[in-house]
Amino acid sequence: MTDPDTTDSETIAFADVVRQRRSTRKFEPGRAVGRDVLTRIVDCGRWAPSGANTQCWDFIVVDDPDRREAVRQVFLDQAHRLVDHAKGFPAVSKNYLANTVAIVLVLGDPRWKVCFPQPTSPDWEAEYDDNNEAIFLCSLGAAIQNIQLAVTAEGLTSAWLSGGGEETTNRELAAILGYPEWMRAYGTIPIGYPVATQDRRYRRPIEQVCHWNGYEPQHYRRHAQVDFYESTLRPFAMYRDIEDLRDWDDYAQKLGDWGPAFTTGTANPDGRLEPEADFTRPRTAGRATKARNR
Ligand SMILES: Cc1cc2nc3c(=O)[nH]c(=O)nc-3n(C[C@H](O)[C@H](O)[C@H](O)COP(=O)(O)O)c2cc1C
Repeated sequence: MTDPDTTDSETIAFADVVRQRRSTRKFEPGRAVGRDVLTRIVDCGRWAPSGANTQCWDFIVVDDPDRREAVRQVFLDQAHRLVDHAKGFPAVSKNYLANTVAIVLVLGDPRWKVCFPQPTSPDWEAEYDDNNEAIFLCSLGAAIQNIQLAVTAEGLTSAWLSGGGEETTNRELAAILGYPEWMRAYGTIPIGYPVATQDRRYRRPIEQVCHWNGYEPQHYRRHAQVDFYESTLRPFAMYRDIEDLRDWDDYAQKLGDWGPAFTTGTANPDGRLEPEADFTRPRTAGRATKARNR
C-alpha cells in the first residue's frame, strides 16, 4: 500500500489514465494487437468489484476480422433503428468499428441477481428488487470501466456502446456469438489506435460536483438546466474535445444565460431545491424534440 499522504508517481500515473480515457470514435485502419495485450485488458475487467462477488459477467473478445465485421453490421443496424425510433439523440455513425483491433462485449448474466439481498415479505419486493437491478448493472459498469481504463493504459483507445442492451440488438449479437439470449451484452467496447489524441471533454467543475459533508444546495442543477442540456447543449457537450465550456469560441451563443450554471460551483445561486418532477420523457420543444417530431 502507498501512503495516502504522499503524492507518489503511481498515483499521478493513475489519474493520467483516468483523464486520458476518452470515448474515441475514430481509429487508425490496418492495425492489430496481440492476444497478450487483449488478455491483460480483459483481466482488468475480471478484477472489478461486483455485488456479493458474483462476477455476473462474461467477456467476449472478438479479434477475428469476419466476426468483427458481423458485429459491426449489427451495430450499423442498431444505429439505423436509433435514427428511426429514438429520434433526436445525437448518435454518430458506427462505421468506425471497421478499424478496431478487437471488440470486447461485456455480457451480464442475470441469474446471479438471486445472490443479492432478497425480500422475505411481499411488502419489501419493490425495495429489494429495484436495488438488485442496480447492483447488477453497477457491477457490469465497474467491469466495463476497468476494461476501458486498461485499454488506455496500454496506449490504445476505446468507446462504450450500450446498444447491446437493446433487445433486438442483443438477439442479433447472441446469434452471431453463440451466447444464450437471456444474457445481455450491456457493454460493447470497440478498441483501436486513435487517429488523433483526444484527452479532453466537457466536465462539470470539481467545485460543482463535490459536496463537503452534505448536499450543498448551491451546486444543485435545476430542472430547467436538465431540460436545456437535453434539448440544446447535449451534442456539443458530448463530442467537442474541450473540458471547460468557457473555452468554446461560441460559448456565449451556445450557453446564453446558462453559462455559470455549467461552468462554476454555483449552479443554483439561491439554493432553492425543487420538488420531484416527471423526467421519464423530454419536457421541452428544443432542437432534439423538434428532430424527434419530424
Ligand atoms: C452507460 C453508458 C452508455 C454509453 N453508450 C454509448 C453509446 O451507445 N455510444 C457511444 O458512442 N457512446 C456511448 N457512451 C459514451 C458517452 O457518450 C461518453 O462517455 C460521454 O459523452 C463522455 O465522453 P468521454 O467518455 O469521452 O469522457 C456511453 C457511456 C456510458 C457510461
